[in-house]
Amino acid sequence: VKRIGVLTSGGDAPGMNAAIRAVVLTSIHLGIDCVGIRRGYTGLISGDIVPMTAEDVNGIERCGGTILYTARSAEFQTEKGLQRAVDNCKFMDIEGLVVIGGDGSYRGALELSRHGVPVVGLPGTIDNDIGCTSYTIGFDTACNTAIDAVDKLDDTMQAHERCSVVEVMGHRAGHLALNVGIATGATVTLIPEMGVDFEADVSGRIRSARLKGQTHFTVIVAEGAASAHEVAEKIKAATGIDTRVTTLGHIQRGGSPLIRDRVTAARMGYKAVRLLADGVFNRIICMNGEKCVDYDIEEALNMTKGLDEDACLMQDALMS
Ligand code: F6P
Repeated sequence: VKRIGVLTSGGDAPGMNAAIRAVVLTSIHLGIDCVGIRRGYTGLISGDIVPMTAEDVNGIERCGGTILYTARSAEFQTEKGLQRAVDNCKFMDIEGLVVIGGDGSYRGALELSRHGVPVVGLPGTIDNDIGCTSYTIGFDTACNTAIDAVDKLDDTMQAHERCSVVEVMGHRAGHLALNVGIATGATVTLIPEMGVDFEADVSGRIRSARLKGQTHFTVIVAEGAASAHEVAEKIKAATGIDTRVTTLGHIQRGGSPLIRDRVTAARMGYKAVRLLADGVFNRIICMNGEKCVDYDIEEALNMTKGLDEDACLMQDALMS
């Protein structure tokens, strides 16, 4: 392989820059030319392709966002858009493409591979919702950002004896909410993987916590589970407790990545280039516990993972 490309796609995640840096520096180390594709598949279609040097990635491991920008491309979903992306790869002599993103981005990568473009995917999303990997780049930093916010909210809830209803991201999955709920000692955590029985899961738990002497409360709502505003209104109506709603939103995607994300990104970026250099294509890099492994892209896309059952049971015990 003489030249590889790297792009970030879908929602950004803290640690994407650290992954780009690892891809670029490993390529240089192995004598492979590396180019960056800006704005994900949109840039692959329009030919927004730039050379990447060691200087370009100097110090970016500590920065949130992605220096290559990111996008979700509707045009890439069309046969014409896909063909233009394939043609640009051929035209630019890109013999391997590293795609950093979520499973939507892998589906795009799979299409490219079917058209003869060798690809390797890296999981980058704060949601940790990719079936083939136990960990995705950005999850730890996002959890910590949310925890910091919930802790701060807890101070003011204590002062006013209120209930804080906090909506966290996670798309359709509850990994972020579950972990934030455990880490902040939330009174209630609502996650999409489990149905919500308002009386049993929310007002009942708050009443029981109040009977045990608790005077302020935290309810974590995963964005895919319920509307935080509706939950707050129902709590007020059922218990009389004053509620305040905070939607953490995109703050969870920003900030300097923490060690787990920087190191995981570096390990994965390195492995991706090693695979391409060894002629191993169409793989997704994953964490299997502490091990960095890789799976065939189609096999990886068919893998599913649920929430950690032990963590759910433990959370349930700690909330009751
Ligand atoms: O996938 C990451 C994520 O932040 C989800 O948690 C959220 O549902 C979505 O992206 C938000 O997307 P956008 O940045 O397009 O608002």
